[in-house]
Order: sequence, then C-alpha cells, then structure tokens
Amino acid sequence: MSKYAKLNEIMERGVMQMLKGVLSYAHYLLNETVNTGELAIDATCGNGNDTLFLCKLVGEQGKVIAFDVQEQAIHNTKKRLAEEKRDNVILIQDSHVNVENYIQPGETISGAIFNLGYLPKSDKSIITKGESTVTAIQKILNYLKEGGLIVIVVYHGHPGGTEEKNTVIEELSELEQRDVSVLRYDFINQKNNPPFLIAIQKNKR
Ligand SMILES: C[S@@+](CC[C@H](N)C(=O)[O-])C[C@H]1O[C@@H](n2cnc3c(N)ncnc32)[C@H](O)[C@@H]1O
Repeated sequence: MSKYAKLNEIMERGVMQMLKGVLSYAHYLLNETVNTGELAIDATCGNGNDTLFLCKLVGEQGKVIAFDVQEQAIHNTKKRLAEEKRDNVILIQDSHVNVENYIQPGETISGAIFNLGYLPKSDKSIITKGESTVTAIQKILNYLKEGGLIVIVVYHGHPGGTEEKNTVIEELSELEQRDVSVLRYDFINQKNNPPFLIAIQKNKR
C-alpha cells in the first residue's frame, strides 16, 4: 500500500462521519490513528470534550497532555475528567507553543487535536492565534510518530478568526510534501463561516 493509500482508505470509510460534522470526522480520524498506550495531545482543551475523547483512545496505559491558557478551561476540563473518572491526563495551563517543555526524552506523539477559536460561553477575546498555532503544530510534528496525525478544527467566524485561518492555511501549505500529507475538508454549501478540518499526517520514510 502506498504511503497515501492508508490515509485515503481511512477517509473513504469516514465519509459518513464527515456528514455528521467536522468535529465528528476529526474524532473518527484520530480513532483510526491513535492506539492504546500511546501519547496524545489536546492543544486547546477548553471544556475538555476532546481531552476526554483522547483519554478513552489511549486508555489507562496511555497518556494525554492537554493545554489551555485559561484557568477556567483547565478547571472545566479537570471537572469533566473527574466526572468520568479519568486520570491519565496531564493538564497544563500554558500556551501550546511550549509543548516541547512537557514531552519526556524519547517520547513520541501519535495524535493531536487543535480546536481553534474561543472557549464557548466565555471571554470571546481570548482566542487562538495563527502564529502560535502554526508554531505549536511545527513543534508537535518534531515528536509525531510516522503515520501519526494532527487534526485542526478551524473555527473562523469570530473576530480574529479570518486572520488565523489565512495564516494557518498559508503556512501549512508550505510544509514539505515528502515529510507530511496535509489535507483540508470542508462543506462548500454551508452558510455563516462553517468550521473546516485540516489533517496532517506524517509520512512513512
Ligand atoms: C474552541 S476552544 C476549545 C474547545 C475544546 N477542545 C473542547 O473540547 O471543549 C479553544 C480554546 O483554546 C484556548 N487557547 C487560546 N490560545 C491558546 C494557546 N496559545 N494555547 C493553548 N490554548 C489556547 C482558549 O482558551 C479556548 O479554551
């Protein structure tokens, strides 16, 4: 099977998930990639929905490192995980640009998710920003295992969202084709700036 065939096969099987929505499709792709016992990153934990999803994927033998700059988000995620009795998470109140400070020597990442934008029902001025998002993605790529996946759910309807979207697309379009496959999925008939998905897979050498 060619290096692209595996991702294509996963995507074809995921068509029904995509029709359910972009976030659901992002979870489908991670589910196909991340295995029990591995390390996964939630770069923007917010209310903890993606953190909880990753926790279940890696299981008790695995580990999730979840970032958010806001105390409220860390609090919400901690509460969500406690309700579900999950303790295989390291919760970090810091920007995802500092991700390498929290990776142990020799560790590799199998999957990561970025859910861009602002914390729902919170301060809409605290948003992810293009430059730091791209820097964090580049740093995670350094630790991503071959075949590993970074998914980015791009919400861009809020103030600052268009700038971030443009920076992310511009920079990720320049990633070396030999090293990674970068794909974009979106609905073309939805109104009001629907979110879309970017998936980055590290190619096998
Ligand atoms: C759309 S929300 C994430 C939703 C979350 N994934 C969930 O499941 O509820 C985006 C989050 O990114 C956080 N954020 C903004 N800039 C960040 C940064 N540089 N590093 C980490 N988190 C950041 C915000 O505080 C906000 O909570």
